[in-house]
Amino acid sequence: MHLKSVVVVHFLSLWYSSTWASLVQDNSTFAGPIPSIHNPTSASIGSIEPVMSVLPHGTISTIRTPGSNITRAIFSNGPINIMNWPMIQDLQTFTVSLYNQSHTKVVILQSANPSFFIAQLSLLEHDGWPTPTEQTKTFIDAAYDISTLPVIFIASIAGRARGAGNELVLQCDLRYAARGRTFLGNFETAIGLIPGAGGIAYLASLIGRAKAFEYVLSGRDIDADTAERIGWVNHAVDSYDLDGVVGAFAERLALFPVQALAAAKKRINEVSLVPPEQVWADYNAWVPLVGKPFSAPLASKEMKLSMNESFGEYQLYEGDEVLRVYE
Ligand SMILES: *[C@@H]1O[C@H](CO)[C@@H](O)[C@H](O)[C@H]1NC(C)=O
Ligand SMILES: *[C@@H]1O[C@H](CO)[C@@H](O)[C@H](O)[C@H]1NC(C)=O
Ligand SMILES: *[C@@H]1O[C@H](CO)[C@@H](O)[C@H](O)[C@H]1NC(C)=O
Ligand SMILES: *[C@@H]1O[C@H](CO)[C@@H](O)[C@H](O)[C@H]1NC(C)=O
Repeated sequence: MHLKSVVVVHFLSLWYSSTWASLVQDNSTFAGPIPSIHNPTSASIGSIEPVMSVLPHGTISTIRTPGSNITRAIFSNGPINIMNWPMIQDLQTFTVSLYNQSHTKVVILQSANPSFFIAQLSLLEHDGWPTPTEQTKTFIDAAYDISTLPVIFIASIAGRARGAGNELVLQCDLRYAARGRTFLGNFETAIGLIPGAGGIAYLASLIGRAKAFEYVLSGRDIDADTAERIGWVNHAVDSYDLDGVVGAFAERLALFPVQALAAAKKRINEVSLVPPEQVWADYNAWVPLVGKPFSAPLASKEMKLSMNESFGEYQLYEGDEVLRVYE
């Protein structure tokens, strides 16, 4: 049974990594066997039929194999997986779907984009969208749900997670990071801001005061092994092992009674979770810095360098590239 599940997980990972591009366009929700069978092992999964749905704005797909109690949520939002209003709403739809349910014990968050887990909050203004600072309130609600729901959240990170992307990762219960592909960071201070959605509170709690000063002030990226060494992530793993290692850990937890998992999470939270008022204190300290004479020109220079948040050198290596706003 265990082996069979591992086969299913492996099969799924092959499947969604090869079809993520088509998931983005598919805005429908369906349940049933995976449609296009381009994997001969599919016959061996018998009656286990993965259930897939795409959230309303098309930025997150979820896949669950009935009986496994594990749900994978896969981010796919444009070339850099930007954290914009459609994605924030999908994230909230997803966390709310986990209230009062009995099918999922463990959630694995992952990305369909090989280079980006989730990029930062989008600063582009759109007609009909709330301002980025308003959007962040919803983001904070959804991200804090991740820390407090009686479901275990594991971030399976390969690619960049910076700014709000890193703040999301920090609010998961466990983090696994692929060597060579992981870049985590909060670069906001370099453009006259600070992380405004719990990044400071969570980093100080996870990596300690000295390292929080180093990374929040410098805005530098951290790699998987360094992140493991200081407690930012649980484990750095070789990229090709990431799915297997995270899948096996999730399968182990999913064997256990949900009551015990939930009670353990609740007690760990009671002694160590950043209280919500500290997350909102990050927000309240961030908002007054936005759009000020010392920050606005840096933010607009950043927007220019990143070609309005396009895929490219700037977004790929932002931890270093951000210094170009001073050129
Ligand atoms: C999905 O559908 C919703 C409403 O039905 C729409 O607002 C949204 O733009 C669609 N997304 C995509 C990616 O087609
Ligand atoms: C686990 O999954 C099975 C089969 O889908 C379901 O019957 C059961 O309620 C789930 N249990 C939990 C605790 O999620
Ligand atoms: C979940 O259950 C609680 C208690 O039964 C209820 O107050 C709450 O409204 C429910 N939430 C949702 C989203 O169904
Ligand atoms: C970025 O957006 C601004 C404002 O919408 C526009 O004027 C500019 O041409 C865009 N630049 C690029 C490189 O797309």
